[in-house]
Amino acid sequence: MRRPGSAVVVLAGALALAGCGGPDSGSGPDDGKAVLSVGSAYMPQPVSDEVAAGFLTLTNKGGAADELTSVSSDVAGQVTVHETVGGAMQEVERLTIPAHGRLVLESGGNHLMFEKLKRKPRQGQTVSVELRFAHSAPVTVEIPVKPATYTPHSGH
Ligand code: CU
Repeated sequence: MRRPGSAVVVLAGALALAGCGGPDSGSGPDDGKAVLSVGSAYMPQPVSDEVAAGFLTLTNKGGAADELTSVSSDVAGQVTVHETVGGAMQEVERLTIPAHGRLVLESGGNHLMFEKLKRKPRQGQTVSVELRFAHSAPVTVEIPVKPATYTPHSGH
């Protein structure tokens, strides 16, 4: 089920979403719901004219899990969520973002698949992606297009 909440625009980077609504203060910690933020988003410049992949990390600081249920983008007629199993990728309906956990979409693992490209994303551009969730309001992320061979620095 989708809530009709308006999309929140964030830049790709670690930005917390405004989690709670209303002027009420004094309510307790967010134990009962997901508090999501998006980071490490990028798209390698696609080799193909038809499909592209995208990667990002969803962090949940809340006390309840949420699920990534659907994705759309200005550059693609369709965006699907894929997982990689034994070297082959397959579409999944949804991916869970665990409470106090992360959902990592990375090269060789889970990823976004941009299909029916309306234009070919080029290095230096950004593509706009809307992420929709089972519980949280949708989030729009501007994903930078990186060189085709780009791999993020993941060592911390
Ligand atoms: Cu794929």
